[in-house]
Amino acid sequence: MTSELVIQDLHVSVSDGEKEVLKGVNLTIRQGEVHALMGPNGSGKSTLSYAIMGHPHYTVTGGDILLDGESILELEPNERARRGLFLAFQYPVAVPGVSMANFLRTAVSNVRGYTDQPAPSNGGGKSGVVGSNLMPMRDFRKELLDKMDEFNVDRSFAKRYLNEGFSGGEKKRAEILQMAMLQPKIAIMDETDSGLDIDALRVVSDGVNKLAGPGLGILLITHYQRILNYVQPDYVHVFYNGRVVISGGAELAHQLESQGYQWVKDEFGEAELVAV
Ligand SMILES: Nc1ncnc2c1ncn2[C@@H]1O[C@H](COP(=O)(O)OP(=O)(O)OP(=O)(O)O)[C@@H](O)[C@H]1O
Ligand SMILES: [Mg+2]
Repeated sequence: MTSELVIQDLHVSVSDGEKEVLKGVNLTIRQGEVHALMGPNGSGKSTLSYAIMGHPHYTVTGGDILLDGESILELEPNERARRGLFLAFQYPVAVPGVSMANFLRTAVSNVRGYTDQPAPSNGGGKSGVVGSNLMPMRDFRKELLDKMDEFNVDRSFAKRYLNEGFSGGEKKRAEILQMAMLQPKIAIMDETDSGLDIDALRVVSDGVNKLAGPGLGILLITHYQRILNYVQPDYVHVFYNGRVVISGGAELAHQLESQGYQWVKDEFGEAELVAV
């Protein structure tokens, strides 16, 4: 069955409830499709990605988010990840004290259901943590190193603390590696192309293209048409003032690149002013 994420008339406020940021978002992403989402700063794109993943600071005040026909609004973020959702953050946070390998082993173990198993009472063996119910270290290590090689992440990164001291480009590569390990059905990539030099953009785009395919739906949030030269979108959506206002094909990204957003604001800004 093809998985489908359906966002229906979604309204979201930031935690204090005073500011409505999303004002009726409608969007459907299916496995196998690449959607690009473009829109001016502050229009609510990251808020949409946080709301989809269940960030506690964002409160859904109306509408619904359905995965394969079932509302996920009541699910915790880790449960949403287990259902196959993934978010690559616009600003990945550093987690001092937690190595990338440990973080990934925990995340993979959650998503693949190892953490449901009772912890073995006789310990996890030589290389395992006592009482561990994580993916076996040997299997995990092999998979991680294979994926690091495949996605051009230096093996030394496994031991480094997550995102600590990573350059902007290294953080973005690390997000691709996470995605490769977690194998989501639907991935949201929030400005994965920002801050990348030309070579890194190619490496990250190659990574996205390797992952893209019938089993993965992608929502690629970006400000620039550039990445879409490497990652071909099936659909391009324009996000403005808390909702999707125009949808089209790749040509829409070219139009935005050459004309900016003024025409969108002219067309969709007035109604808001009248409504106030
Ligand atoms: N936790 C928060 N507290 C207060 N305001 C917030 C919070 N999160 C988002 N906002 C506000 O919501 C609006 C949308 O922000 P958001 O980060 O979603 O925009 P964006 O489209 O991702 O912008 P950019 O292109 O700059 O990344 C902004 O005005 C922002 O200040
Ligand atoms: Mg953003």
